Amino acid sequence: MSVDLDGWGVAVTGGAQGLGYACAEAFARRGAGVALIDLNGETLDRAAERLAAETGAPVHAIPGSVVRRAEAEAALAQAHAALGRLDSLINNAGVYPRKELYEIGDADWEASVGVNLRGVYNMTAAAAPILAGNEPRAAAPSGRPVRGRIVAVSSVDAFKAHPANAHYAAVKAAVLSLTKSFALDLAPKGVLVNAVAPAAMATQKAAGSGFLEEFAAQTPIGRAADPAEVAAAILHLAGPENSYIAGETLLVAGGYVME
Ligand SMILES: NC(=O)c1ccc[n+]([C@@H]2O[C@H](COP(=O)([O-])OP(=O)(O)OC[C@H]3O[C@@H](n4cnc5c(N)ncnc54)[C@H](O)[C@@H]3O)[C@@H](O)[C@H]2O)c1
Repeated sequence: MSVDLDGWGVAVTGGAQGLGYACAEAFARRGAGVALIDLNGETLDRAAERLAAETGAPVHAIPGSVVRRAEAEAALAQAHAALGRLDSLINNAGVYPRKELYEIGDADWEASVGVNLRGVYNMTAAAAPILAGNEPRAAAPSGRPVRGRIVAVSSVDAFKAHPANAHYAAVKAAVLSLTKSFALDLAPKGVLVNAVAPAAMATQKAAGSGFLEEFAAQTPIGRAADPAEVAAAILHLAGPENSYIAGETLLVAGGYVME
């Protein structure tokens, strides 16, 4: 697939590494301007430099956290200002420390809810008026034109229980519910909101967590996904080819879960 995204603007949370970086790369390779929003300053700067050098696209490093509403709003406003125009938001920032079921403490819940759920809420709420205010890039065949797109990264864990991550699974399921609430409100305003639920992906972080082999063995395709394969699905939902998908969750799981 080759799409000319020159002039397109996308903000990616947790864009300094892993799936977030792969999403940014998918857009940047098509000429889109990219804002990487991440709390990891050093990794973030290196990632932005590398992506700009490899793609020639405009790449902006925006340090910030998605957890608190005011900080998230400020980071998104900075991304918008740097890009000039914001077309897509990818809510990818996430944490997934494993914890035995009966040992999940207050701090574990707060971390998981803060980044994985409230972060999605904060950034989506901040992006909504910006995207809804965009001049449409293309006329709709009839009715309302699309003005913007938002994708949240959930997980197969929202659909299937695994040991030692109940807090993460519950929160990733909540992301799917939040996606529907935002889609209901924003589709009439021309903003398409969807979620992607990946299974195991061979990001550096996941490789160090020790669950990739276990997933791969149980997956009909027989391997973990390359982050670029998940990014391709996100590109479809968050890019110009999506004109009619709203409030959906796309499983990108190699058949591990079939809904
Ligand atoms: N890797 C997998 O197997 C897998 C499977 C299913 C879903 N996911 C989801 O995919 C997403 C990316 O996973 P990954 O493996 O690339 O993770 P990763 O740890 O490699 O990258 C996550 C990025 O998010 C950033 N981040 C963390 N907290 C943040 C905050 N408060 N504000 C801004 N940025 C923050 C980190 O600094 C990091 O750069 C996550 O939402 C994760 O839950 C991953």
